[in-house]
Amino acid sequence: MNTENRVELVENGNAGILRETSVSHIGFRVPDVAGAEDFYTTVLSLVRQDELPGGGVRLGWGTGHHVLDLTPGDPGLDHFGFEVRDAGGIAGIRQRLTDAGLTFASLDQGFIDAPAGSAEGISVLNPDGVAVHFHSPVRRQGEGVADPGRRPIKFQHTTIGTADVQGMVDFFANIIGFRLSDQLADGRFCWLRSDRDHHTLAIVNVGRAGILDHYSYDLAEWEDFKAWCDRLTEIGVRVQWGPGRHGPGNNLFVFFDDPAGNHIELSAEMEKFYDEKVDYVPRKWHPVPESVNLWGGQLPSWRTTSESSGLPAGTNR
Ligand SMILES: [Fe+2]
Repeated sequence: MNTENRVELVENGNAGILRETSVSHIGFRVPDVAGAEDFYTTVLSLVRQDELPGGGVRLGWGTGHHVLDLTPGDPGLDHFGFEVRDAGGIAGIRQRLTDAGLTFASLDQGFIDAPAGSAEGISVLNPDGVAVHFHSPVRRQGEGVADPGRRPIKFQHTTIGTADVQGMVDFFANIIGFRLSDQLADGRFCWLRSDRDHHTLAIVNVGRAGILDHYSYDLAEWEDFKAWCDRLTEIGVRVQWGPGRHGPGNNLFVFFDDPAGNHIELSAEMEKFYDEKVDYVPRKWHPVPESVNLWGGQLPSWRTTSESSGLPAGTNR
């Protein structure tokens, strides 16, 4: 590998404070809300849980906390959210944001499906100006009751595109309390954890601010990938990348797009971290396609950040 471009992403003492925090919901602006809703209800078996002011819809698993807000507008990432189950978690995030001189707002209670009186949350802009929600525990009973060949089990991680990966690490790890699990050695891609999963958030340099690179749902097992790939093909949804296995996280993956061009990942078998048993050091993966696709080395059509391997097709490192 080229050792001239090594960039070590830097964490401070706040990194790793969060241990029981996972993704909760995400919101996109889409030019055609009805078309996007039709796609998500047909392809992912999400259901409408609410209507939003201004012509948007809120989709979810039918019961419990929602997953996806679709609001009208030019395509883009509107917000994404995390459920903080750590004791005193929201208060701690408030304090660390205040210590860092950052301002935040109370999260609209409508975003939080929780028992009456228990909901609290905040909304804070990340360095790219995208709203990030952190809220107290929610009802998640809608998860885990899927026919996994037709409906994912749960929303699992968000990968945001930015022009400043270290700036995002400063925000999400060094203030909020996520922790680096792995990075590409060139510092252009990193994966952060906030619970046992290898990542609940990933950050990739795409040269622009405020981008949703992709977001991911869990499937139960490898067998489900076959059913999904066959069904996507039957209903005319093209598989855009994979199936394959990532190096960082070691998870299985397949990607396809929604009508607005958002990249959707289905994933399984993500590596688990046991911070109470072992000290992990972030691994620095070679910045080559073979790292993010162990099986084949090819990248998705939209990915331009990783260096090409410079090796003949099919060559492994
Ligand atoms: Fe992913």
